[in-house]
Parts: sequence; C-alpha cells; structure tokens
Amino acid sequence: MPKYDEMRKIRDELLSFKESPLYEYRNVNKFFPVVGEGNHDAKIMFVGEAPGLNEAKQGKPFCGAAGKFLTELVESIGLKREQVYITNIVKDRPPENRDPTLEEIELYAPFLVRQIEIIQPKVIATLGRHSMNYVMKHFELDLELEPISRIHGQIFETKASYGPISIVTLYHPAAALYNGGMRDTLKKDFEVLKPYI
Ligand code: URA
Repeated sequence: MPKYDEMRKIRDELLSFKESPLYEYRNVNKFFPVVGEGNHDAKIMFVGEAPGLNEAKQGKPFCGAAGKFLTELVESIGLKREQVYITNIVKDRPPENRDPTLEEIELYAPFLVRQIEIIQPKVIATLGRHSMNYVMKHFELDLELEPISRIHGQIFETKASYGPISIVTLYHPAAALYNGGMRDTLKKDFEVLKPYI
C-alpha cells in the first residue's frame, strides 16, 4: 500500500478510536486526533509527547509556542520543517495539559510503531522524557536509559526491522520556552542531527 494510504488508514483508525480514555474528551471539545505531519520519506522523525490545546484544535503537531521553537531548531541545522516528519507518542490531548499516563502511552504506541515502519527514518529524535523512555525501550536500549538530564543530546545506535537506526534524545522544546539556558542547550544538542541531513 502506498505510504500516503497507510498513513490515512492510521488517521481513520484514530478518528474512531473509542477504546481510548481520551476519545470522549476529544469529541466533547471538538478536538482532532493529531496523526503527524511532514515528509513520508524523511530521514529524521521527531517524536513528542501529546498534542496541546492548539494542536488538538487544528489536528496538527507542534503548531503552538513549543512548535514555533521546534521549527526554529529544525531550521538552525539547515532543514525545512517540511523535510522532516513530526509526530507524538500519544495522538489525543490529555485533559488540562497533564502528562500522558503509562496506559495511554501503551495504548497509542502501536500507531507510532506503524508510522516508524512506514517512514523508515534513519534517526528518531525523541522530544522529552516520555517519548525517550518509550522509544529507547522499544528499540531494546533499556540498559542505556538514564534521566534525560544525563543523556540529552546523545546518539544511540540500534536496529529497526528495516535496518540500522539512531535514536537521539532531546529535551522537549516546551522546557525551553521560559528558560534561556535550556534554549541554548537544545540548540547545541540539535547539532548532533547535522550528519544525518
Ligand atoms: N507538545 C508535544 O509534545 N506535542 C505537540 O504536538 C505539541 C506540544
């Protein structure tokens, strides 16, 4: 099946994902599930946490303040946002901007795994500790897992079903919004992605 059709199938399944504890909240608020956005042949795939309010309203990932900074970071390494693929581990907005639960992460993760198989990126850059924890464990890097404050900006080489893959662990761009030091750290950490562009 062409990549576009496979991605559309994921969108359709998410639209009727009644098994999710976030499904009713989405419908009551007239939110959208956020599948992801970008190049289906991207070398670099970014995985955030869960949609915020702007994202759930528009059905697009990282389109609020954190997204603006993410776009800036992508451009700082010479790429356009359209050249990468951006998604989240949880595809619906948790109420009150709370962190996604472990149950929600486990429930939505199979969609992310399918997206990885469709896009077959060379690099997955995790944004924040939730996606870092899930993605590292999924690629059997459990033994390398440490708090994000210790392993941010690192590259972990591993294997996907379709070949070698690198996992790059980054802070979440929202963490930098009100913290200039963190902004500089993220900018510096992004440089590790340069060899892959
Ligand atoms: N934060 C995320 O983790 N994902 C988004 O799409 C927006 C904000």
